[in-house]
Amino acid sequence: MREHIERTQSADPWTLRGISLEGRLIGYCSIDDLDTMIGKAQVGIVIGEPDCWGCGIGKHVMALLLAHCFEKLKLHRALAIVARGNDRSRGLFESLGFVHEGTLRDATQVDGARSDLLCYSLLAHEYEANRTS
Ligand SMILES: CC(C)(COP(=O)(O)OP(=O)(O)OC[C@H]1O[C@@H](n2cnc3c(N)ncnc32)[C@H](O)[C@@H]1OP(=O)(O)O)[C@@H](O)C(=O)NCCC(=O)NCCS
Repeated sequence: MREHIERTQSADPWTLRGISLEGRLIGYCSIDDLDTMIGKAQVGIVIGEPDCWGCGIGKHVMALLLAHCFEKLKLHRALAIVARGNDRSRGLFESLGFVHEGTLRDATQVDGARSDLLCYSLLAHEYEANRTS
């Protein structure tokens, strides 16, 4: 995981950031397909250590990432793509106000079986409304 982060970071420092907890590397978050002209990007997060799931870390990190996207980069739209059946990830994005906007049918494979990808998005005014509510 560390090698993957270092290799990608050297290509573009904003692409991938490691998540560490008390010095332990537990995952990474990313901003991909950043287009500041149109004002959009794709966000992602993986916590690779199951003992760190469900403790609020994912939501905290994604909130920081979204603050960067909307408040610093002034983006209009963030996209998140989740494999169908990844309920934890879907729950994370829904809890942050992301809206399911469509489905890419059979667009990936999970454990050798074809699976849909669910597209979620959050727009700047929705981010702002959630932040101030
Ligand atoms: C998905 C992931 C990033 C979420 O991070 P996390 O730290 O476990 O999640 P949090 O504890 O911050 O929970 C965030 C929200 O997700 C939702 N959630 C958590 N566990 C859930 C579950 N099992 N089912 C549905 N929703 C769930 C909750 O609504 C929670 O919001 P709330 O606190 O307002 O109720 C992390 O669990 C993970 O990386 N899992 C494995 C890898 C993976 O599937 N990555 C996604 C690739 S896109």
